[in-house]
Amino acid sequence: MDKVVHKILEIDDGKLIEYKGNYSFYVHQKKQKFQRQLFEYQQYKKEKKRLEEMARKALERSQNMERKSWHPESSEERGGRDFYGGKAKKVARTAKAMAKRLEHLEVKEAPKERDKINLSFVDRKDVSRYIFEAIDLSKSFGQKLLFSDANFVIEKGEKVALLGKNGCGKTTLLKIFIGEEAPSSGSIKAAENVKIGYFAQQLEVLDFEKTVLENVLDTGAPQAQARNFLSCLLFRGDDVNKKVVDLSVGEKARLVFAKLLLSDINVLVLDEPTNHLDIESKEAIEDALEAFDGTILFVTHDRYFIKRLASKVIEIDNQRVKVYDGGYEYYVQKKADTGRVDIKQQILLLENRLAQLSGLLSDPKRSTDVDELNKEFIEISRKLRDLYANNKR
Ligand SMILES: Nc1ncnc2c1ncn2[C@@H]1O[C@H](COP(=O)(O)OP(=O)(O)O)[C@@H](O)[C@H]1O
Ligand SMILES: [Mg+2]
Repeated sequence: MDKVVHKILEIDDGKLIEYKGNYSFYVHQKKQKFQRQLFEYQQYKKEKKRLEEMARKALERSQNMERKSWHPESSEERGGRDFYGGKAKKVARTAKAMAKRLEHLEVKEAPKERDKINLSFVDRKDVSRYIFEAIDLSKSFGQKLLFSDANFVIEKGEKVALLGKNGCGKTTLLKIFIGEEAPSSGSIKAAENVKIGYFAQQLEVLDFEKTVLENVLDTGAPQAQARNFLSCLLFRGDDVNKKVVDLSVGEKARLVFAKLLLSDINVLVLDEPTNHLDIESKEAIEDALEAFDGTILFVTHDRYFIKRLASKVIEIDNQRVKVYDGGYEYYVQKKADTGRVDIKQQILLLENRLAQLSGLLSDPKRSTDVDELNKEFIEISRKLRDLYANNKR
């Protein structure tokens, strides 16, 4: 979205708000707006408290003074009645003025925050450290090789992003994990007690004739927990009594997640879970997944999702499975580094060829097609110039 979008219109709380920028800009602005609102709200609360306190003190003092002015015998000063009486009026005026200021103080609302997920998950049975271990894993369909000789582990609690170009075999690899596809050779060892929840936009795990709440209660979760989960996933108030048939795609997806997260599982395998979802649904699901304390293996093309969630990246690239033991930033950095190594390699090769060519061209009798060689020489020089520039960066 960042590459395509340069303006975002959001309908929020019945208001249309314009953001003049791409998605990153929008996210940034939203965050800043939230901070600003929070600050203003806190200032407002402070000022309100201060004025209230001042008004209360002034009132107290004026009442004290009035008492004294009614009982001049308690006063040591002569003419105390007048003195206190006048003072009391002044203080009372102050109290009134404070009350007035309070009235005119511009009311600031606290910024709205999504319900924080209070995920007390089902007790996770003890699972050993290595959730999955791929040993010399290969997969092909007929003549078509997807990947070969993959060796890697996925540890307990890791959030693993599986990346790669379309058609490289990500879905197939996930299916091997959940036992729906068999490897062509090698194996995947799963820890004992591993209980996998799988999500691939297949919404048939829902009972369409039941309500949202009924669907979630079917997992055996207690009412309070079920309602908390649903509210975190944006089903509020009467929403929970809607029938599933009447839900939008985004709502159905959120409900599947509520069900999934409340079932007795410790590993989530997700195939493009946030495709086709609105931003709010996506963020609600991200929150829920972030709070999930089990292991997650997920495929997505959503850079934000990867950035937020991934603690490890596995990439299928050129029929090889590569593991990056770090989050998205680490992965990007490493890729850039290997890219630079490749550039150096290319430069070396081209420089060699260039030397060869100049040898050939310096002795035209030995070469058959000088024009061709000249063309290649120019071509390579141009390439090298670009590579030198790239290498400097
Ligand atoms: N059951 C199957 N039989 C034959 N070919 C398949 C089968 N499933 C997937 N493929 C092929 O394997 C390749 C990888 O598919 P897939 O795992 O879905 O890729 P990705 O999820 O990375 O886009 C694709 O070319 C796809 O057409
Ligand atoms: Mg796929």
